[in-house]
Amino acid sequence: MVERDDGDARTVTATTLERPQARALLELDSVSKRYESVSETIHAVEDVDMSVRERELVALLGPSGSGKTTLLLLIAGLLRADGGSVRFEGRDLASFTKSEALAYRRTKLGFVFQDFNLSAGLSAQENVCVPLLLRGVPHGEAHGRARASLAQVGLERRLTHTPDRLSGGEKQRVAIARALVGEPKLILADEATGSLDTETGDAVLELLAALPREHGAAVVLVTHDIRATRHADRVLQMRDGRLSELQ
Ligand SMILES: Nc1ncnc2c1ncn2[C@@H]1O[C@H](COP(=O)(O)OP(=O)(O)OP(=O)(O)O)[C@@H](O)[C@H]1O
Ligand SMILES: [Mg+2]
Repeated sequence: MVERDDGDARTVTATTLERPQARALLELDSVSKRYESVSETIHAVEDVDMSVRERELVALLGPSGSGKTTLLLLIAGLLRADGGSVRFEGRDLASFTKSEALAYRRTKLGFVFQDFNLSAGLSAQENVCVPLLLRGVPHGEAHGRARASLAQVGLERRLTHTPDRLSGGEKQRVAIARALVGEPKLILADEATGSLDTETGDAVLELLAALPREHGAAVVLVTHDIRATRHADRVLQMRDGRLSELQ
C-alpha cells in the first residue's frame, strides 16, 4: 500500500491506492507477426494494440491457435514483430542489442509455463537460483533469495526436493518462485494452470493474482480458464490473431 499525506484518501478508490503511478509498462502498437511456410502464410498476430500498466493483472483468453503464445513471445523479444512496435518502459524492443535483449528478459521479465520448465536434476532451491546465477548474483546470496522466494509461495519445506518429488501444484509454485526471485516488472504466464486439477489450479491462480499487490509485478495471464477473469483488472481476448477487450 502507498503512503499518502493528504486528507483525501477516502475519496480515492482502493484500486487507485494500490496503483499510485500506474504508467504504461508495456505498449504494443499495431503489432503483427506472420509465420511463412511453403504452402501458406499464417497471420498469427494481426495489428494488435495493447498496453499493460505497472502492477496490472491482465487476463488474455482465446481459443487454441489464436496467437496468445506468439504474442507473449513478441513481448519477451523472443520473436521479432513483422510490423508495429513493442515498447517496454518506453524503449522499443527492436532497438535492443542482443545483450540488452538478454538483460531485458533476465531482469525485467519472469516466465511461468504450463509444463513448469524446471530442471530435473536440480532441487527446488537450485531451480529458483538459476536466473540469479545467470545474472552474476553470488552463490550465497542467490541461495538466500531463492529460499525467501520459495517461502513466499509456501514451499519453505521443499527446498531440497527435485521436481520428481514435487506435486504438480508444487512444481508450478517453484516456477512462480523462480519467476519472482529476480523482482521482475512483468510476469508472463502461459497456461500456468493448464496441467493442474481444478483445485490446485485455483490455488496457483490466487498466487499469480496476488503478485501485483504483493510483489509489484504486472502479470499477463494467458489462459483458457474463465475463472482467471475474476481476478483480472482487464480481460483481453485473441481471435484469429486479433485482440479485443472484454472487460
Ligand atoms: N513456429 C511456428 N511456425 C509456424 N506456425 C506457427 C508457429 N508457432 C505457431 N504457429 C501458428 O500460429 C498460430 C498461433 O499460434 P500460437 O501458438 O500463438 O497460438 P495459441 O493461442 O498460443 O494456442 P494454444 O492455446 O493452443 O497454445 C497457430 O495457427 C499456429 O499453428
Ligand atoms: Mg499457446
